[in-house]
Formats: sequence, C-alpha cells, structure tokens
Amino acid sequence: MSRPVVVETIAALRAELAARTAAGGSVALVPTMGALHDGHLALVERASEIADTVVVSIFVNPLQFGPDEDLDTYPRDLEADVTALEPFGVAFVFAPSAAEMYPHGAAQVKVTGGEIAGLFEGRTRPGHFDGVLTVVSKLLNIARPDAVVFGQKDAQQVFLVRQLVDDLNVPTKVEIVDTVRADDGLALSSRNRYLNGAERRAAVALSRALEASASAADRGIDAVLAAAQSVFMDERLVKLDYLKVVNPKTFLPVDDGYRGQARVLIAAQVGSARLIDNDAIYLN
Ligand code: PAF
Repeated sequence: MSRPVVVETIAALRAELAARTAAGGSVALVPTMGALHDGHLALVERASEIADTVVVSIFVNPLQFGPDEDLDTYPRDLEADVTALEPFGVAFVFAPSAAEMYPHGAAQVKVTGGEIAGLFEGRTRPGHFDGVLTVVSKLLNIARPDAVVFGQKDAQQVFLVRQLVDDLNVPTKVEIVDTVRADDGLALSSRNRYLNGAERRAAVALSRALEASASAADRGIDAVLAAAQSVFMDERLVKLDYLKVVNPKTFLPVDDGYRGQARVLIAAQVGSARLIDNDAIYLN
C-alpha cells in the first residue's frame, strides 16, 4: 500500500514522468473525473498490469458538460479517491485545476469527433464529445503515456477515443476494460450515487434490457429492440432516451439485413441521473 503522489500542475507531472521514463519505464494513464468506484479501480488494476508507472488523472472537465448538466454537483472528493487508489501501486494522481487545464478560459482549439460524435450521447448532449476528445488529447499530450485505459461502459467514448488516436497518429495504445456491474447487473457509474432507493432498484432495467436483447438476438434486430423495449414498459421511474443497435466497426445503426457482431446501446434518465449502458450481441 502506498499513497499516490498528488500532482497539480502540468509542469510537475511532466518532470516526474520524465524522471521515470528516462530509466526506460513505461507509463499508463487512466483518465477519470474522480468519484472513483470499482469500475475505475478495474481500469487502474489493468494499467498497473501493463505499465511500470500508473498515472490516474482526476479532473471534472467543464468542457464536456452542457449548460443544464451536473458540472456543479458532480461528486468531488479527492482525498477519498486518493485513498481508494492506495492498494493499486498508482504512482501519481494528476489533479489539475480548471485554470491549469484551460488557462485562457474555454479552449479555443478543440478536437471534434465528426458524425459519430453527434449521434446517441452526442445528440442529447451537444458538444459533449468535443469536450471529451479535447481533454483526452490534452491529457495524452501532457502525460505521453504508452497506454491509456478506458472502460467499455462508455462505448461511444471508447469508439471516438480510438478514432482520435488513429486519426491523429497518437503513439499510445488504447486499452479497454469490461464494464463492472453490481450484483443485480447495474453498471457501476459515479452518477449512481444520485439515485434514491426506488430509483436504484428501477435502474436495473437498463441491464435487464440488455439481457433481454441478447436473448432475442437469434430472432433478428426487430426482436432485439422489442425485447429490450418491453423491459421499460412498466418502469415509470426510468425514462428511456435511446435504444440503438450499432455496428461496432462504424458505430452507425445497423439495418434489418445486418448479420454479425453488434452493440446494443441504452441511455435513460432515472431521477436526476442520466445512465448509459451497452453490451455486445451477435445477429445471425
Ligand atoms: O469517462 C470519463 O470519466 C471522462 O469522459 C474522461 C474520459 C475522464 C474525460 O473527462
């Protein structure tokens, strides 16, 4: 058990990492917004398996929140997060201020994700992925890691980060870790803590809908959508935002004739929490 060193400035993190990499050590970065749970810790565990030095960034990125979203109320507890990381051999927690990351106010030059960034999450949250891709680019430029680790729960984010790394020739390997779930199937998320008891019980509808869609996969796309949809019928606390089946290679919705690997995406509002989940299915 060792407590990670908290670094607040870009210059200090670069100096620390330069000292480590001069000796030939590899670096893995786990970008987070804090409020760490077991899903994040699974990313950190993976990072520590693949690199000598692990950096966890904790930064609630204002650029990826819309004007009516939860930027101000997003849970922040740096001390608790650093303590949670103690068992995982994390060398550094990079916890910059907004002024450190955006010294000129909002970034003028942004990374945009193109067509896919405007779909699904991007449709409900305009500008969200430009904010994500911009901050991820900054973090990759700051830490210059050999690998960066993300969770599959944010499937669209994963797709767009891979595209960012590919399109901009970033010399970093993108490592993806499976979604971690509670015993009843609910995907772990920092936003689950917004749920009251009844909402928490209702929120399991998202993972139940994914299970239902997987069981209907051999009957085609319409059956998949109908099976998932039926789970939400009687759940008045869960307001479905979208339910889509996409081709994982293009992240575009599949049509009737599609056969092969697909991914079911779900987003719903449960109380004040916006929750997302997804899973792979095979359409044959
Ligand atoms: O997935 C998240 O927590 C955020 O979108 C990320 C990648 C840390 C960027 O702020």
